[in-house]
Amino acid sequence: MVPMGPAAISTDGLSRRFATGVALDALTLEVGAGEVLALLGPNGAGKTTTVRLLNGVLRPDSGRATVLGLDPTVAGDEVRRRTGVLTENAGLDDRLTALENLELVARMRGFTAAAARQRSTALLERFTMADRADHLVQGFSTGQRKRLALARALLHDPEVLFLDEPTSGLDPAATRDVIDLVGSLATEHGRTVVLCTHFLGEAGRLASRVGVLHHGRLRAFGRPEDLAAALLPGVPVDIELAAAADDRILGLLAALPGVRTPGATSFGLRLVVDHRDRLPAVVAALVGCEVPVFAAIPRPPSLEDVYFEVQARIAAEEAASP
Ligand SMILES: Nc1ncnc2c1ncn2[C@@H]1O[C@H](COP(=O)(O)OP(=O)(O)OP(=O)(O)O)[C@@H](O)[C@H]1O
Ligand SMILES: [Mg+2]
Repeated sequence: MVPMGPAAISTDGLSRRFATGVALDALTLEVGAGEVLALLGPNGAGKTTTVRLLNGVLRPDSGRATVLGLDPTVAGDEVRRRTGVLTENAGLDDRLTALENLELVARMRGFTAAAARQRSTALLERFTMADRADHLVQGFSTGQRKRLALARALLHDPEVLFLDEPTSGLDPAATRDVIDLVGSLATEHGRTVVLCTHFLGEAGRLASRVGVLHHGRLRAFGRPEDLAAALLPGVPVDIELAAAADDRILGLLAALPGVRTPGATSFGLRLVVDHRDRLPAVVAALVGCEVPVFAAIPRPPSLEDVYFEVQARIAAEEAASP
């Protein structure tokens, strides 16, 4: 569900360039309170730049943003008080222990010494790091650093969380744990989350809406199912045969009404029908020319399908206007 309440974040024409070129180009969007927005896009697309602009650690060249109704360029301190950030490169102090890293930030955020200790210890337990509380961060693995940085971002129970690749480098169990945690922060605690990720499965599970950035421009924005309906109309179907379909079979299916883009796969073929009612005719055509069918499974487009369709359209556009 896309919440209809007041926007937790809104941007209007937000832009930023570096000496290397445009990093963010007129970003305009809104994120509702309690919503998880996934920001997707290839390396260098502008995801981290967006997070830095929204947190007021980077100033835009033009355009505006508000976070919790505040302008990060003039009220950066207050924005950062009420938001939590997990940056790409955790930014922990290697010379301190895990517990000290958390306590230090908790004290900076105004906790008393006792409260800082209590909150830090609880979060270390939450992230199954209690046994490493007194170890120097210097010797931590990528995943341990990531979990500690995530704990640090949550110390002050922020209203808005910016998570820049929270699961990269995490093992499968820690990944699942972080995904569950992010989901519950939004659904049970009403927190707003901006999630930058390259993991489309994770984005598909967590995000109420996704934005796809490319060269700093927002190329798609909306609920995954709405994007799928707009970009990939019809129902993709996987058809399992004894072997990859040959040209004769593909030609036969392409001629059927309501069938698009049949293509061979390792398991047989994949095609798109305009409605699932077309499926019996597809199977009948195959059986009619003595091709045994082991399975025909309609598969709703995944976020991965949507993402690659957006990339394909961008590539086609770029090819058309070099
Ligand atoms: N401080 C900086 N100085 C110069 N160029 C920068 C700076 N920060 C970002 N850029 C450039 O801005 C563009 C967007 O970078 P950004 O880090 O926002 O991408 P990203 O989508 O987060 O990529 P990734 O998936 O690799 O993390 C890139 O071309 C990058 O080289
Ligand atoms: Mg990044």
